[in-house]
Amino acid sequence: MSPITGVETVASLRVRLEQTERQMAARQRQLERYAADLREVFKQDRIRAQELRRSYITTVRALSNAVEARDAYTGKHAERVAAYGMELARAIGVEIAESPQIEFGFLLHDVGKVGVPDAILFKSSALTEEEYALVRRHPVIGSEILRDVEFLGEGKLVVRHHHERWDGSGYPDGLRGETIPLAARVFACADALDALTTDRPYRPASSFAVARREVCAGSGTQFDPSVIAAYDRIPDETFERLRGAL
Ligand SMILES: [Fe+2]
Repeated sequence: MSPITGVETVASLRVRLEQTERQMAARQRQLERYAADLREVFKQDRIRAQELRRSYITTVRALSNAVEARDAYTGKHAERVAAYGMELARAIGVEIAESPQIEFGFLLHDVGKVGVPDAILFKSSALTEEEYALVRRHPVIGSEILRDVEFLGEGKLVVRHHHERWDGSGYPDGLRGETIPLAARVFACADALDALTTDRPYRPASSFAVARREVCAGSGTQFDPSVIAAYDRIPDETFERLRGAL
C-alpha cells in the first residue's frame, strides 16, 4: 500500500467513524426520548389508576355511610370494623391486607340490611321466628345487590359470608372451617370486637381487654383459631388508636 493511499484510508476511516458516532448519538437521543415518553405514559397511567381507585373508595364509603345512617347506634361501625379487619389481615400476613376489594367488603358487609324493614331491624322486643329469618337474609340480599359490581371482586364474599361460623353453625350457607373465605373469617373477629366495645341500648361497651377475653373464648367455635392467634398478637392500644382516628 502506498503512503498516500494509507493516509486516504485513515482519513476515510475517520470520516466513517465520525458518521457512525453521530448516528449512535442520534440513536441514543431517540432512545432517551422513547424512554422519557414511556415514563410519561406510565406516570399518567398511575395517576389515572389512583384517581379511579379514589373514586371507588369514595363511592364505597358513600354507600357504606348511607347504610349506617339508618342506625344511629352503630355510628361508624363499618369504618371501625374495616380498620380492625385490615389490621388483623396485616397481622396474619396475607395478601388480603393489600386488597382494597377486601376493605370494600368490610365496609359494605351489612348493605343487605336495606332489605330489612325498620320495624324489624330496630324492634326493641324479641323478634318472631319469621322476623329473625328475614334479618338472617341480609348477607344474601347484600351479595345480590352487589353481584354485578365487578370492582368489588372478593369483597362480595365478605358480604355473603360475614355471619358464617368456624364450626359450621353460621349463615347463610353454613360453611365450616377453611371453606369460609379468609376475609370473612377475619371480618367475623373484627365485627365481634367492635360489637363488644360499642354501647348498645341493652348494655354498655366493654373495654378492649374484656372484649378480648370474650372473643378469644370463641376460638374454634365461632372464630378461626389462626385469626384469633393473630388477633392476640395485637395490643389493645392499637385498636384504641384505630378507633380514635375515625
Ligand atoms: Fe351482618
